[in-house]
Amino acid sequence: MPILKNIGMLSSGRTAGPQEQVYSIPDAALVWSDKTIAWVGAECDLPKQFASEKTIDAQRYLVVPGLIDCHTHLAFGGWRCDEFVQRCLGKSYSDIALAGGGILSTVRATRECSKEQLHERCVGFLKQISALGVTTLEAKSGYGLDLASEIKILEVYRELQKRSDISIVPTLLAAHAVPNEYKSQREKYVALILDELLPRVAAQQLAVFCDVFVDTVAFSIEEARTILQAAGKLGLRAKLHVDQLADTGGATLAAQLGAISADHLEFISDAGIEALKTSQVVAVSLPLASLFTRQAPLDARRLLARGVPVAVATDFNPGSAPSFNLHLAMMLACTMNRMSPQEVLNAATIVAARALGLHDEIGSLEVGKRADFAVFDAPSVDQWLYHFGSNACRATFKNGSMVYGAL
Ligand code: NIG
Ligand code: FE
Repeated sequence: MPILKNIGMLSSGRTAGPQEQVYSIPDAALVWSDKTIAWVGAECDLPKQFASEKTIDAQRYLVVPGLIDCHTHLAFGGWRCDEFVQRCLGKSYSDIALAGGGILSTVRATRECSKEQLHERCVGFLKQISALGVTTLEAKSGYGLDLASEIKILEVYRELQKRSDISIVPTLLAAHAVPNEYKSQREKYVALILDELLPRVAAQQLAVFCDVFVDTVAFSIEEARTILQAAGKLGLRAKLHVDQLADTGGATLAAQLGAISADHLEFISDAGIEALKTSQVVAVSLPLASLFTRQAPLDARRLLARGVPVAVATDFNPGSAPSFNLHLAMMLACTMNRMSPQEVLNAATIVAARALGLHDEIGSLEVGKRADFAVFDAPSVDQWLYHFGSNACRATFKNGSMVYGAL
């Protein structure tokens, strides 16, 4: 039973705690047995039964639950640096998408990649992501947009689930854009999702969630409802990309469908917030996407004030958020979404776990939960997120084993 001692500050979080409280313990210790947390508290209270166990010195660092990136588009071919330059010079994200760029240009590049090539790229990303203290990551399909290519991406995620130091939670996002070959017959693409993709993905258990991008350049509220109701019947719970570029009533749809999360929400209306409030839907803020597309960020205070939990994630993808740096997204959630650093730590741990339905297993450092945690060279959560320098993560532990860093 390893014991992590000499922890300067341990911010444990709690499964049922309020979002603004991270439950910090100074001079703490943490004990785990195999993959599970056995004890956590002030080091002076460490029970004698652990006296002879192997100890690891935390060097006065900060210990927090393993970070959870609950919204990424991990597997894709190519990059879209040319579009980044165009946007810097004033073109909008929608203009580029309507001109045939955007998601569809990544679809072309992704279809050309073999499963092995996609796998290699993901392994490279995940290695760097693990070094940020991330221990669980949601990963969407959505750059295949045909049967074989969507399955190819989800099979890459299945492989990664077996080997990676990060738990991967796969999501089917076939309704990310209407592919070119169905441009003038979009109902046939929706039918392909309903009749072929969803049954196959469900039968092979290739995804846990089904996501739809609701927008004028993507899918309508009614199309999303049809797809997500069908997915629900097959056991895939709904996630939604909504109210990103305009208010389309997407948050209300998420509440009506009992979605597990509603993501983006820059343009959420007061009615949308009211709908989320009376549901169990987690709001997911993606400030990197707001930043890179130069749009007004979500004011998370509007949601938090009404008791709606807000998670924070990267949205890592080659278009609207070409960075997997969750620390950056967390700092931006403070400065752009108006969240406190403590609310943000919970947003990237226990609330993010809730957005994946895993809050009873991960997301806080409590007895019985998985020994997933990260060690940072900072005296407190506030100081860590305020002083945005180079990577402050000194070690990442997954299922009780150190998978990155050294102590
Ligand atoms: O979450 N909003 C839609 N999908 C992605 C962007 C994908 C892309 O531009 O390639 C997002 O921001
Ligand atoms: Fe996204």
